[in-house]
Amino acid sequence: MTRKILVTSALPYANGSIHLGHMLEHIQTDIWARFQKMRGHQCVSVCADDTHGTPIMLRAQKEGISPEEFIAATREEHLNDFQDFLVEYDNYHSTHSDECRELSEYIYNELKAKDYIDQRSIKQLFDPEKEMFLPDRFVKGTCPKCKTEDQYGDNCESCGATYSPAELINPKSAVSGATPVEKESEHYFFKLPEFEEMLKTWTRQDHVQEQIANKLDEWFEAGLQQWDISRDAPYFGFEIPGAPNKYFYVWVDAPIGYMASFKNLCERRDDLDFDEFWNEDSDAEVHHFIGKDIVYFHTLFWPAMLEGAGFRKPTKVHAHGFLNVNNQKMSKSRGTFTKARTYLNHFKPEYLRYYLASKLNNRIDDYDLNLEDFVQKNNADLVNKYINIGSRVANFISKKFDGKLGADCSEHPLIKEFQEAAETIAEHYENKQYHHAIRLIMSLADKANVYINDEAPWVLAKDEEQAAKVQEISTISLNCFRMLTIFLKPVLPEVAKEVEAYFQIEPLQWSDAQTVLADHEVSRKKPTIQRIDNKQVEAMIEESKAEAEAEAAPQLADPIKDEIEFGDFEKIDLRIAKIAKAEHVEGADKLLRLQLDLGGVTKQVFAGIKSAYKPEDLEGKLTVMVANLKPRKMKFGMSEGMVLAAGPGGEDLWVLHPDDGAEPGMRVK
Ligand code: 2FM
Ligand code: ZN
Repeated sequence: MTRKILVTSALPYANGSIHLGHMLEHIQTDIWARFQKMRGHQCVSVCADDTHGTPIMLRAQKEGISPEEFIAATREEHLNDFQDFLVEYDNYHSTHSDECRELSEYIYNELKAKDYIDQRSIKQLFDPEKEMFLPDRFVKGTCPKCKTEDQYGDNCESCGATYSPAELINPKSAVSGATPVEKESEHYFFKLPEFEEMLKTWTRQDHVQEQIANKLDEWFEAGLQQWDISRDAPYFGFEIPGAPNKYFYVWVDAPIGYMASFKNLCERRDDLDFDEFWNEDSDAEVHHFIGKDIVYFHTLFWPAMLEGAGFRKPTKVHAHGFLNVNNQKMSKSRGTFTKARTYLNHFKPEYLRYYLASKLNNRIDDYDLNLEDFVQKNNADLVNKYINIGSRVANFISKKFDGKLGADCSEHPLIKEFQEAAETIAEHYENKQYHHAIRLIMSLADKANVYINDEAPWVLAKDEEQAAKVQEISTISLNCFRMLTIFLKPVLPEVAKEVEAYFQIEPLQWSDAQTVLADHEVSRKKPTIQRIDNKQVEAMIEESKAEAEAEAAPQLADPIKDEIEFGDFEKIDLRIAKIAKAEHVEGADKLLRLQLDLGGVTKQVFAGIKSAYKPEDLEGKLTVMVANLKPRKMKFGMSEGMVLAAGPGGEDLWVLHPDDGAEPGMRVK
């Protein structure tokens, strides 16, 4: 039976780069989707950038560009990262899209029509300077429980207490530094508790993992609450229909982004029909792959919204644990917080895909990327075991048999054993037990290697009379190699392409494991996989560290120029000067002509300070000048020094020195 399957990964926020933590999920999803496609199912995988919300709005403001420009640039970056990791989405869309707006409005209107939306006024912290309501993460202050300073508005990193931002002692807006005030505003709420019975049943029907179902029971016991789905302007998002200046909270349109991305794809693909996948009575499957931190949104809010609006609910929400590196949380200072792009600067994507596949399971426990083990496992499994099978016998076929494989070997016990394993391996992929699949595949690779060792074709090859036997052994071994490639193809798509080119065959499907290649000509170009080493790991860590340091360094709008030597600085002779005379310069918009008295010596300087000072206000006052600047001939005469000024310009430009006992001619140290 051909299944119709829609697969998604959580939509990455558009305000940051993709890192290896994200890659774990996108690789898990991609392997599953590629596997389903190889099985011949109609499988489509979609993703998008999650573009709305306060952090993205503020980030764009800080960079001085529109949020639209900002999210467009991030989407490009994310898309390239995924493509280069061989994560193949049929569509990578954006939540800031027409489809997402239309669907969000539709779902909201349906929920409202069915009386699932409540409305009431609530009090929240407001930044009076920036004139905006502050999300919890944008308020900082002293923890009301343990009194640790500089804690976020929702919880304390020191004692773990959770509280509302209004409870913080001495709260400050992280946006402007102003002290927030409490302010009322009208909010819209989704009546989640009305879906309690439906959710209790749904979560016990195999739509979530058992570990998650248990967690959900705790939440049910604690009681479901109405969910605040609105935010006040200014907010980057979609305005709520019939509610001017109120926007959908980012988590409303984020999961709708799954549907939107699929809808956008349907517009280009004749074989896909939106309703067929999303109607209440759809027989298609919808699978969401997510991190364990966003289970609440995907297993409570999302199915309830779908149910309320008359759509089907997900077939399964697949949650995974987080990625640690060397048994610790990814850390910028240790250089283990590695961006996808940084990894790709040092390794091909398939090493990480393989390593993660060898660990991935269907539970929500965290994973460890042990970097030494990463190097060792890839070399041991992919190079020494898998690719080596092809390398060990391919030369016999190319050199002795004109590239021709021998007769049908389908009755050989090793081939039969491989074929019989195909369904078990498929079950492991289907159940997201990739680690079991990889273990079984590698045990088959071991068997193929033992077979080659036992047969020792290199010994037989010396005897012309054994030629047929050598061809037979090579044919069996290469067929094993081809089958292993089928089994590994969801994980190693590029390697599989090379192997397909070597065998001169069409893209391998899962069912091809039940056939063998016989009397078939192969190419002369053997597939290869490069060994990797610890030096590459070290280089990747160094690069990650350097990136983290560069990001942490304060940035100036007007960057500091190249460093100078202390000797260069010492050459500058700074002196207190008395402005003996100041006058307008005929025909100059910005300049004043100054006669500067250095205590006996007078110098003429043209200074661009006309916007800030009237000449008569300057006379008799003190300033600081560079006294030893080589005289320069300017349009209006010689300028024999430079006056120091600070300020943004215009009227705000300060050149005067406080008259606190300074004498003209004094050196400024
Ligand atoms: O947690 C996150 O990174 C969110 N951007 C995930 C959104 S998933 C979906 F609902 F869109
Ligand atoms: Zn505390």
